[in-house]
This record gives sequence, C-alpha cells and structure tokens, in this order.
Amino acid sequence: MKAQENKTGLPLVQLGVTRPEELTALFADLRGRFDDDCACACDESTWKVFRDRWLGRKSGVLTQITDNWLKPATPELKRAVGASLNELRSHVESQIEARRAAIESGAEEAAVARERVDLSLPGVIHPIGSHHLICQVFQEIEDIFFSIGFSVVEGPEIETPYYNFEALNIPEFHPVRDDMDTFYIDLPKGAATPLLLRTHTSPMQIRAMEKRKPPVRVIVPGKVYRRDNPDATHSFMFHQVEGLAVDTDITFCDFTGTIEYFVKQFFGAGVKTRFRPSYFPFTEPSVEFDVSCIFCGGSGTAAGGGACSKCKGAGWIELFGAGMVDPAVYGFVDYDPKKVSGFAFGMGIDRLAMLRYGIDDIQVFFQNDVRFLRQFP
Ligand code: DAH
Repeated sequence: MKAQENKTGLPLVQLGVTRPEELTALFADLRGRFDDDCACACDESTWKVFRDRWLGRKSGVLTQITDNWLKPATPELKRAVGASLNELRSHVESQIEARRAAIESGAEEAAVARERVDLSLPGVIHPIGSHHLICQVFQEIEDIFFSIGFSVVEGPEIETPYYNFEALNIPEFHPVRDDMDTFYIDLPKGAATPLLLRTHTSPMQIRAMEKRKPPVRVIVPGKVYRRDNPDATHSFMFHQVEGLAVDTDITFCDFTGTIEYFVKQFFGAGVKTRFRPSYFPFTEPSVEFDVSCIFCGGSGTAAGGGACSKCKGAGWIELFGAGMVDPAVYGFVDYDPKKVSGFAFGMGIDRLAMLRYGIDDIQVFFQNDVRFLRQFP
C-alpha cells in the first residue's frame, strides 16, 4: 500500500479535511486497509513486511499519520486526529501481535504434523546374533563347576613342547605323541624352542600349578588342534574343557563324586555313570568315564527294536578321560607328591554337545550354516 493511496503522505489540508467529523471516514478507510493487509500476512516473512509497513519508525503508516496529519493539524483538528490515531495504533499493534502469535503456532503445528512419528510403521529390524552352541555348552559347563568351587582359567593356544608334553610326563619318544601328531609353527632357524598348536588343554594344568600353591580348583575351556582329517567325528580344531583339583586330602572318592555330579547336572539326574581303567601319562590311575546311553536310556535297544545305533547296543557311551594326577607331574611344578593329591579330567566339548543335542556330524559346528545355528538361539 502506497502512502499516496493511503492518503497518509499528504497533510489533511491537502486532502480537504478541515472538520473533525471528516476524520471518521478517513480512519475507517485506513482500518479497513489494515485489516485486509493483515489477512494477507500468512507467514513469517510476509508478516515482517506487513509489520514494517504499518509500524516502521521512519515511514510506517502510523509514523506518516503522526508526521503528516497530526503534527501540522490545525488546533481544532489536533485533538481528534490524536484520539483517532491512538485508537488506530492500539488496533494495529494488537492485531500485528495476534497475527504473529497465530503464525508461530501455525508453524509449530505444521512442524508437529511434519515430524509426527507413525507408530504403526514397521520398525527397522536389527538382527541380534546368538551365542554359538559350543559357546553355550562352555558356559553351561562353567556354571556347573562354578557351583562347586572351581574357577576358570585360560591359556595360550600356541604352546611349547615342554608344557604340551614333557611336563605332563610325556617325554620325547613316548608313543602317546603319535596320537597327538602335531602342528608345529615354522620358526626362524635357531629359535630357542619349537612352538606348536596345543593338542589338548592339559598344558594349563602345569601353568595353573606353577602359578599357585594348593588348593587348586580350576577348569580350562579352550580350543585344541590335531592333525586329523575332517569327518563326522574329527576336526583339526575342536574344543576341550580341562579340569584340575589338587589339595592335601583329595581322594579317588572326591574325584568320582565330582565327575558324577557334573555328568548328572549336564545330562540329567536320571543318567548313570561308570568308569573303566585307562591310560594317560599324567594320571595314575587313569580312567575313562562313561554315561548310560542317553538315547536308549541305557537299555542298548532302539525304540523300534534292534540295537541302539548310538551306543551300538552297549547301553553306555564313552564320555572323557580322567584320573588322579600322576605324582611325577608334581615334580615339574615344585609340589611335594607326598603332601598333595588331586584329580584331572579333559573332555571334548564338541562331543558332549553332539551327544546332548543329538547332532551326528561335528562339521556343522564349523560350517556356520544359519539354518543350524538358528536352532540354538
Ligand atoms: N588331554 C587328554 C586328551 O586330550 C584328555 C585327558 C585325559 C585330560 C585325562 C586329563 C586327564 O586331564 O586326566 O586326550
């Protein structure tokens, strides 16, 4: 709106207004224009232009009225112009403010509408992995042994022949080494000691006893390596849990009681255990622990008749090797064999998991086929 159109650029005399009554129409017209103008200010930027047009200090409409109408007004008109101007000013100011508030809340509403979260939309699914079955079995075994006072220690997968063999009473040309045909690490010529991938977790018996004095009660979960060709029951890498308990008064009864407790916790209270004589260089006497067949309930007969294929009709399944620690081993760790006694065991975790979950091929643990893994969430 130009000042001209608005007539506020000219003094009242030039507009031919000389009497107070004539002001009424003049101001009414202005108010009408203001109201139209106000209706068009529908966002922040048009509102600002609109506000400056009416309230701008230098050339806003109200300033023009003050300068062009009020100031030069004749004494008889001045009062009336002042009054009408005040009325207009208060209308203008309050409407401009009301308009600002309306625009602001409208903007807010628009933002809220724009940013509204649609709770009915499907979320972004982040798949959560789960522990590998072997890991779960490790944890379960650890929990069972925790409950009877054992703690967990771990050791290196790359070992020296001393820990893997010699200190376990397996000297260099002992025939037992043939069973543990080993992966040796290629080392630079002249290296101080050969290194190999441990073939069992038993070396940690030695490391644990070197580190602490009796009583010792530890289990050692971990990976072991052997030069085995892969088939349904063999893998070049598999898992073991070693156990060792040494104190001043540990008997064969403590030994069998502990193992029986573990086996019943792991396979269920209904199973039976038995042991048979065996041989390991680092235990004396040595035994193999068996559990009554968990597939045929120990009967040796399959559900549909005939021999149970899992235990081959024997009713027993071989579980793992164990024994009372051979006194010769204490000589390697500075324990007095006359004062201490203890037992040790070493179980294959893959085998225990296969028995427990009826898995007939060890390779599935390492193929990482999600169809297999998902069965054990
Ligand atoms: N280390 C043996 C192996 O891998 C298993 C074993 C047998 C461990 C008897 C023991 C034990 O601690 O007492 O074949």
